[in-house]
Amino acid sequence: MTLEVAAAIRSHPDAASTGASSSLIANPGASTPALSSINCETKPFIKWAGSKRRLLSQIEPYVPRRFRTYVEPFVGGGSLFLHLQPVQAVLNDACIPLVEVWRAVRDDPDGVYAEATRRPLAKEAYYAARAERGGSASERGGRFIYLNKGAFNGLYRVNLKGEFNVPWGAPKSSFIADLDNLRAISEIASTERVELMHGDFQAAMDVAGDGDFVFVDPPYVTSHNNNGFIEYNEKIFSWHDQIRLAASVRAAARRGATLLVTNARHSSISDLYAGFETVVLERPSTIAAAPGKRGRVEELLVIAKEH
Ligand SMILES: C[S@@+](CC[C@H](N)C(=O)[O-])C[C@H]1O[C@@H](n2cnc3c(N)ncnc32)[C@H](O)[C@@H]1O
Repeated sequence: MTLEVAAAIRSHPDAASTGASSSLIANPGASTPALSSINCETKPFIKWAGSKRRLLSQIEPYVPRRFRTYVEPFVGGGSLFLHLQPVQAVLNDACIPLVEVWRAVRDDPDGVYAEATRRPLAKEAYYAARAERGGSASERGGRFIYLNKGAFNGLYRVNLKGEFNVPWGAPKSSFIADLDNLRAISEIASTERVELMHGDFQAAMDVAGDGDFVFVDPPYVTSHNNNGFIEYNEKIFSWHDQIRLAASVRAAARRGATLLVTNARHSSISDLYAGFETVVLERPSTIAAAPGKRGRVEELLVIAKEH
């Protein structure tokens, strides 16, 4: 990345030690003004499969204390990005409607909020919204958030025509969106130094260079019934994609970036990232526990750096 920005996260532990508290960390050498402090916690505005929200406290200790650009090639709901609030970032996801809703929140948080909350979170209204098409970017963004909150398990799935087709999930909570949160996210993402891209991870990985930090949170390989076999989801992210990703991680590490890579704790993944330090993360399982596992699932965090 060519723009030189000194360590640039507002809520990082270093902020306290430099006396910057939750306000902006100094940004020497930058050619444009840094973000003004929003002094506000931000959280994901959607429920997203594989969200790292509940693992943040286990991941954060391995985030480098200083970095230039924050790169997240599989941003999803952006839990770590929203937690760290880096000043300079490149965010990417292959799911185009997801990136469009991020852009809509950035550009018009009030409009997105109005659209997201104008219907009751109820079965009939959900199916009516699901059948709607088109509209402005804010209307589509708001509808995306509304449908996300009503959908079964917050799933995102489309049919062959690309139409969202998840059934009503009868959510226990009536919460849809928080206007202050959307406005704060808009402020963080509005800077000209936060880029929102859509497409395959490779283009975003190619951006990462010396001193950058990359959080790599791809769809996982999944172990099947803990019997040691891997069930590769060939449609979403194939084993070939995992190999391609690992090569891309090694190349970025050679260029001087520091990367944290998450995946299932499985020998195939340890082999793929052999030579890098790994840490085991633990989270409560959302599905029925396998005997002896007590409802805990282990994940792997790879710390990829070559400096
Ligand atoms: C595990 S989720 C990321 C979750 C995110 N870190 C969070 O906390 O919400 C993986 C993401 O990868 C995206 N994805 C799948 N294949 C991709 C590809 N080839 N390139 C980029 N993104 C991809 C999916 O759309 C999904 O949002």
